[in-house]
Amino acid sequence: MTQLRTEINKVCCIGAGYVGGPTMAVIADRCPDIQITVVDMNEKRIAAWNSENLEELPIYEPGLDEVVTRARGRNLNFSTDVEEAISTADMVFISVNTPTKRKGLGSGQASDLRWVEACARQVAQCAKGHTIVVEKSTLPVRTAEVIEVILQSAQQPKTDPKDVRSFVVLSNPEFLAEGTAIRDLECPDRVLIGGEDSDAIESLASIYKQWVPEERILRTNLWSSELSKLTANAFLAQRISSINAVAALCEVTGADVREVARAIGSDSRIGQKFLSSGPGFGGSCFKKDILNLVYLCNHFGLPEVAKYWQDVVTLNDWQQHRIAKLVVKKLFGTVSGKRIALLGFAFKADTNDTRESPSINVAKDLLEEGAQLAIYDPRVIEKQICVDLQRQSSTSPEAKSDSSKSTLKEEGAWWPTKDVREAISGADAVVILTEWREFKHLNWIEIESKMRQPAWVFDTRAVVDPIAVKSAGLKLWRVGDGVA
Ligand code: NAD
Ligand code: UGA
Repeated sequence: MTQLRTEINKVCCIGAGYVGGPTMAVIADRCPDIQITVVDMNEKRIAAWNSENLEELPIYEPGLDEVVTRARGRNLNFSTDVEEAISTADMVFISVNTPTKRKGLGSGQASDLRWVEACARQVAQCAKGHTIVVEKSTLPVRTAEVIEVILQSAQQPKTDPKDVRSFVVLSNPEFLAEGTAIRDLECPDRVLIGGEDSDAIESLASIYKQWVPEERILRTNLWSSELSKLTANAFLAQRISSINAVAALCEVTGADVREVARAIGSDSRIGQKFLSSGPGFGGSCFKKDILNLVYLCNHFGLPEVAKYWQDVVTLNDWQQHRIAKLVVKKLFGTVSGKRIALLGFAFKADTNDTRESPSINVAKDLLEEGAQLAIYDPRVIEKQICVDLQRQSSTSPEAKSDSSKSTLKEEGAWWPTKDVREAISGADAVVILTEWREFKHLNWIEIESKMRQPAWVFDTRAVVDPIAVKSAGLKLWRVGDGVA
């Protein structure tokens, strides 16, 4: 049965970030008949999306360059002309940032919706004819109501009948994970569309149907869709806090968290995924979305529910600080003036994103203790680490003159290194914080020969081969390992 729907020829996406860019690239790739313009007020970001050199794309995602190469210039364009793109679009995706509020009402918990509101106002001002507005950003439940009110103010009857405008708001949250974004978009577990207008819902569904099986396209009401996104992230983060809590218990009881994870994950009701213990979850969304949930629960008079979710974040913060404390403790209670090779700064492998990365807290704690951090990450640039640590980098001791070497040791300092070999030279410890593939196959015999003894390896991601590390003569601590 064919369903009634508005035909979508032109799409505008506001926000060319980690979600807007890859999502629109995949839609453009799969729907060559739809013209897509991704707009952003950040000129540098748009210039990077338009760069001929694919290494300069503003985000790193495996497979993204190929998708962009196929669609860019054909039916995928990146522009700073927000008004023009909105005015010609049948459908506008809002894919802007929704960080935690830093001040005012709900500070530290509620989402800051100023960018979403600005988008709604821009659409209200510039759209022509009938426009379907799609919430792609992760939003607090009932945000669509706010967007509708703003859009309605533009829907008032105009003197010129050609200027009559109408809007429908849909919720279509994104579930991609960084590092696997293209795979997640090309083969999603589900696509969620929330709304009240079946014509608009089917118009959006018709886009996804070009490559997603019908049974994976879920339709719900607006509020279920908005709340499902927050809930999905809360459930995923909760599993990580649960396994990290168990890891700490394993370390003091002689159990091994990987064996426990395998044993419980074999129960099909629990499942194997998202049971890797580590330095705590990072990323731009888990913490902010749970804090948003906490805020909403309190707002709706459910303090017990709020506390339940708050504890997931509290345990995560504890885990990150616990790792740094542990390193200090094992290195005879002080890391002052000691060189530590910190391997991995991204919040997970296969991304250059460092937002809320556990490496930030661990590095800051160690710097506070006076450590000398040689930091290596294959994708994160020095400038980003400076921003995250709120500290300039120092010159490495190797590059310093003999007279200035001693002053460097007085207080905490960090510098970037070009590879693992450079980072570990003369170090007392290696701390692995991101599970980059290259850290799985390091030559521990060579590493041991270049470190100061007794030397430690702190593997917070359990990526190394414990036998290889120990037989090279290094001391090993692995998260959740009761026998270390
Ligand atoms: P981002 O910060 O990478 O990108 C947002 C972009 O929006 C920025 O480039 C910013 O300049 C632009 N922008 C903001 N207001 C604008 C305006 N009025 N006009 C034009 N451009 C504007 O953010 P992101 O990581 O892509 O996340 C976007 C949303 O998607 C958030 O709500 C996030 O929670 C959600 N989300 C993110 C991920 C992820 O993996 N990063 C996954 C799923 C959902
Ligand atoms: C997460 C969700 O997985 C996506 O579905 C969601 O769309 C996205 O948040 C979002 O809303 O932004 P992402 O943060 O990109 O995606 O990456 P994840 O793979 O979920 O990892 C998040 C953090 O948890 C990372 O620091 C990762 O190392 C950590 N993690 C993950 C663990 O410590 N253990 C695990 O078993 C899995």
